[in-house]
Amino acid sequence: MLVQWTKELETGVTFVDADHKVLINLLNQVNHCIVDNEDLSVLGSVLDALVEYTDYHFLREEKMMELSGYSGIETHKITHRVLSGQVRAVYDDYQNRPEKVNAVDVRDFLQSWLVDHIMGSDFAYRDTCLDNAEAAHAAGQVGFLGDGSTFNEWEHIRIMLVDDNPNFRRLVRTILRAVGIRNIQVVETPLEGIARLADRPADIVLCDWVMDEMNGTEFAHKVSEMQLPTRVVMLTGYSIDVLKERSSDLGIADYIEKPVKARTLLETISRVAMAVPQSSSTRVA
Ligand code: FEO
Repeated sequence: MLVQWTKELETGVTFVDADHKVLINLLNQVNHCIVDNEDLSVLGSVLDALVEYTDYHFLREEKMMELSGYSGIETHKITHRVLSGQVRAVYDDYQNRPEKVNAVDVRDFLQSWLVDHIMGSDFAYRDTCLDNAEAAHAAGQVGFLGDGSTFNEWEHIRIMLVDDNPNFRRLVRTILRAVGIRNIQVVETPLEGIARLADRPADIVLCDWVMDEMNGTEFAHKVSEMQLPTRVVMLTGYSIDVLKERSSDLGIADYIEKPVKARTLLETISRVAMAVPQSSSTRVA
């Protein structure tokens, strides 16, 4: 592990510390991908999540500083814009010129900006914001998908992920847990997924299309034969149009292309969850 969470990194503001843990977790996953010489679609997914979660965290933190009347907010916001631009530039370089990017430099840069910012700028607002619990509570209520999202049942939805890549499994679990999903099953193979579903149903299964034992379409057929209120969302390194041509839609509720964007993943889950029949045992709105 590159960065270990310690008491020295704690601000004492609950949602801020939770956000920082997610960011450090993602940073460690960048490191895992580099050490494993991971496929670009997985590293790209991790970097996208880091970019998106960084912006989300900055939004919440700035709201808290504003509501608390913190005098250093303007300087802090400028620092956020610079950091946000730098992280996005790393992501863009990986997307456009992966062969030119020095992965170790990227990792060292991400480590220094994250830890230095938390222990420098973030610690400076601590006393002001800790004195204002209402401001921290209001800022902590800002959801990842923004105020326009009508889905707020993250705590109750049941998700299964079927994917043979450990770094990708780690990433999806981090994204799901970051928005409050607690009922998560993560399995490596489709046969394990089928066996588990019989004992512990899921509302949505996120399933890789290319797998050894059966492809995603065959998996979706088997799930539909079990007559569970389970929706299958297909993850694919191909374009969605190509996948639709090669597969029957039977039993497939939606598709997500890899590299996966955290926002797309969560928007798809919320959309599919809201379409789950009311007979489902989950409390999906
Ligand atoms: Fe926690 Fe200012 O970022």
